[in-house]
Amino acid sequence: MSQRYAEITGWGTALPPAVLTNDDMSRIVETSDEWIASRTGIKERRISHVDVSELGRVAGLRAIAAAGLEPAQIDMVINATCTPENLLPATAGLIQDKIGATGAGAMDLNANCSGFVYAHAVADSLVKTGASHRVLVLGAEKFSYILDWTDRSTCVLFGDGAGAIVVEATDEPVGLVASELGNDGSAAEHLCLPGRGTAGQVAALDPLTAGVRMNGPEIFRRAVTVMGEASQRVVDAAGWRLEDVDLLIPHQANQRILDATARRLGLDNARMFSNLHAYGNTSAATIPIALSEALEHGRVPPGANLVFVAFGGGLSWAASAVKWGSRTTAIATSDAVLPDFDGDALELLRPNIEFFGGSISS
Ligand code: ACO
Repeated sequence: MSQRYAEITGWGTALPPAVLTNDDMSRIVETSDEWIASRTGIKERRISHVDVSELGRVAGLRAIAAAGLEPAQIDMVINATCTPENLLPATAGLIQDKIGATGAGAMDLNANCSGFVYAHAVADSLVKTGASHRVLVLGAEKFSYILDWTDRSTCVLFGDGAGAIVVEATDEPVGLVASELGNDGSAAEHLCLPGRGTAGQVAALDPLTAGVRMNGPEIFRRAVTVMGEASQRVVDAAGWRLEDVDLLIPHQANQRILDATARRLGLDNARMFSNLHAYGNTSAATIPIALSEALEHGRVPPGANLVFVAFGGGLSWAASAVKWGSRTTAIATSDAVLPDFDGDALELLRPNIEFFGGSISS
């Protein structure tokens, strides 16, 4: 029997239409476009008017169409998210139902911002062992819901969105070549959200613990080191040299982290993809959104050597060396769209801002 590989054959995104600019942000907390843009590279981000499964539905259907498949041909849905729609059921199950993947299993995977790279590695294993044949892998997040909108050191960084890929069995030697999945739980306190799980006593949601807490400089320091080192290790494990890497697609956290990672690897900006300015950090969704846009912009040549690398809460990290196949265009497009919304991002956020004791200045 020929060896079985797992190729990425479809890709798609769902980006909510409501845009929150840095100037809008300065109406919520004491900040400025100049501070945010120069410290992070972010100019604006999207705020979702729909739930996570709806973002996943649209990204998923677009990825399935790009692969030239029907939803019923998908046999597993893995949704990487740390902002699930509910604690139960898994959001992946809601997506499975909404897209009509009636023959598929479904599970959420939470490795925070590294979740998509983890989920891709799980899908790859399922396909290579023959347990699955066609897996829909999503990163779908509504991070705006879990931010403390009075904490300027975190709320300016994140945004909402979803991206998806389809991973299919093939006998061509393409797909995931090497991966590293890591975590340092002893440092988890540097990026956490303690007040929304099942720890402690049953109590009403408390604004003091209901928002993401982050030690920014510590995360920055660790991200720069780990993303560079893990990328180098998967490139070595793949038997490539750094010169062989066509495109590095890093988790979009902070432009300074991205630039430092690329510098560490000796890659120039032409070999690294960034769309951080437009969407901020969408957690597990950044890499599939970036991959889809890289394909759209012709940045992924046939047979490309790609590296995905991520770092996030956990503190987790993940890196993959991925050999792209011969097709870099979609087989078909889906007519799936998000429900219309022509309102204002600030107004969408007003209840969240007021919950934390903040306000929107004029
Ligand atoms: N606007 C204006 N001033 C601000 C803002 C803001 N939005 N946020 C912080 N400041 C102030 C601070 O209060 C501080 O003021 P002080 O000196 O008077 O106390 C000053 O700016 C410097 O603060 P630092 O935290 O040292 O600023 P730094 O240059 O480290 O930048 C940042 C902060 C952008 C958060 C940076 O540390 C960072 O990007 N860290 C990584 C965070 C990250 O990427 N997290 C996500 C990765 S993991 C995941 O994806 C979930």
